Amino acid sequence: MSIAVCPGSFDPITLGHLDIVRRAVRLFDVVVIGVARNASKSALLTPEERVEVVRGAVAAESDLAAVRVEQVPGLLVDFCRQVGAAAVVKGLRGGADFDGEHPMAMMNRHLSGVETVFLPAEQRFAHVASSLVKDIARHGGPIDDLVPPAAAEAVRAAVAHRA
Ligand code: PNS
Repeated sequence: MSIAVCPGSFDPITLGHLDIVRRAVRLFDVVVIGVARNASKSALLTPEERVEVVRGAVAAESDLAAVRVEQVPGLLVDFCRQVGAAAVVKGLRGGADFDGEHPMAMMNRHLSGVETVFLPAEQRFAHVASSLVKDIARHGGPIDDLVPPAAAEAVRAAVAHRA
């Protein structure tokens, strides 16, 4: 059985992330979304909120019914080992994403042998980034066509109370 992990900080999950998960579901028998901590980013949503939002987003999509969503407590490679995943799936919007992802992919393979499969992002999501979504929300701008409804709600609540 082929098992893949779709990891990310998902702060918040975007429609671009969901598209990658949907495409991973067509390639692997089991897909687990791993909500992890990115040491180089400070998150708006707590890890528990991010997991809850991702679960809500996945639950709203009938074709993602079998996708599990879990928190990654430490290293991604340990999580992959724990769930039995031989592959990590990540989306690439362009060269900047590749520059960031390539060292992580190589390091994860160095640490555990896990392979990373890159999927090119759909062009219509090439500009969609969690960081931009948060910036737009902080200024009261529209984010509903960039993220799932559960994410839009959580981000608006968080920026209203924490920003
Ligand atoms: O959505 P992001 O921020 O691009 O995802 C990056 C993430 C969270 C997948 C990466 O930072 C990660 O794997 N974090 C878990 C800790 C870890 O394994 N660090 C070593 C990476 S080589």
